[in-house]
Amino acid sequence: MEKQEKRGKFSSSLGFILAATGSAVGLGNLWKFPYIAGQSGGAVFLIIYIIFVFLLGVPIMIGEMAIGRKTKLNPIGAYKTLNKKYTFIGVIGVVGAFVILSYYSVIGGWVLKYITAYITGNNITDSTNYYQSFISSSIEPILWHFIFMAATCFIVLKGVSAGIEKFSKVLLPALFIIIIVIAVRSMTFEGAAAGIKYFLVPNWSDIDSLPKLGKVVVAAMGQVFFSLSLGMGTMITYGSYLKKGSNIQKSAVLVPIFDTIFAILAGLAILPAVFAFGFEPSAGPGLLFETLPKVFSSMPFGIVFGLMFFVLVFFAAITSSVSLLEVVTSFCIDNLKMKRKTAAILISIIMALIGILAALSFGVLQDVKIFGSTIFDSMTFLSDKVIMPIGGMLMCIFVGHIWGVDNIALEISNGGVIPFKWKNLFSIIMKYIAPALIMIIFISSLFA
Ligand code: PHE
Repeated sequence: MEKQEKRGKFSSSLGFILAATGSAVGLGNLWKFPYIAGQSGGAVFLIIYIIFVFLLGVPIMIGEMAIGRKTKLNPIGAYKTLNKKYTFIGVIGVVGAFVILSYYSVIGGWVLKYITAYITGNNITDSTNYYQSFISSSIEPILWHFIFMAATCFIVLKGVSAGIEKFSKVLLPALFIIIIVIAVRSMTFEGAAAGIKYFLVPNWSDIDSLPKLGKVVVAAMGQVFFSLSLGMGTMITYGSYLKKGSNIQKSAVLVPIFDTIFAILAGLAILPAVFAFGFEPSAGPGLLFETLPKVFSSMPFGIVFGLMFFVLVFFAAITSSVSLLEVVTSFCIDNLKMKRKTAAILISIIMALIGILAALSFGVLQDVKIFGSTIFDSMTFLSDKVIMPIGGMLMCIFVGHIWGVDNIALEISNGGVIPFKWKNLFSIIMKYIAPALIMIIFISSLFA
């Protein structure tokens, strides 16, 4: 009989916080956040986003980390252990990880393609053409997606402390340094002030009707779940590798704060430059790959900044994709008794294959529509607007009404050692506020 793998562990609290921040900070901050802010009213979006980070993000993160540390298992195993009837919540999470990583890795592949362009001295002067012809081609996006997936697999193969934790420790500080350099450069362009103002000074008159406000609220909530890696068990999985004595409350506050600071820096790195060079902030998903290269090609040392920027995006993306792969890998190790190596490689291959459909959604498969959206858009809709909010909502209901706030409070406070001062507030949020709010926003998103 095969020997059961020894369960991984983060070597320190700092290591855990960095890995969890690494999971949170990713394409969500650099690719999605600036373009969603650019499409959804800039500063108004930012304010609503920050409110949701604290109202929903922090409590849900505490809940997930506590479930993980308590059970020391992947999401499916965790719910099964706490209450067999609710195993399905964990299943939603593992399915979510599959969906997200399959398309996430496609965008990760695009990033690799841009890195090689800048390395080879290509200034991408005709970025619209470059972007469009690249994403609509058949072979290249798939190849880069495979390479990105292989890199993710490589880190996960090494295990929790020697892989995930070690890489996060190096890449995360590097990320913060690079984004600050780029933000400073972006904000000092002539004409950058308009972008800074757009991003930081709310213009409430833009949001003059309920449907408009509804759109911003829906976008902000989806973005909170995506950006904080919540609602599908990533933080349960990472929490399961935490040592018993660690301080969950501190981690669950620090990770969202770091992630939000990073998102704001990303906004400041991108939007002022976009305004300064006279481009539209509402360019959508192409903002990073089409608009930004235009900015780089029209500034001095553009190739250097372009290269630095896309390397940054790659670092951010890989520490997130690793956390997605780890969710499914840990399930295979814990429940299916697989070896880490077998599990990680097998899942990577399956995800790589599913991702092909996402990769081709911009080209040969662009006319294949599911309810009017391309395969890629359907996958992002399913993950950000359905799986993560619903998974998060079910987690709150489970903690609030099934497992019980008293039980989880014992885990959160390490048996009373670290006082859980805001237990009552946490209880109200878990039981009523979060489920109701998520439900209302979810239903309205279906009509938005
Ligand atoms: N939070 C990551 C990002 O912002 C994406 C992610 C979502 C990672 C869900 C894990 C789980 O890019």
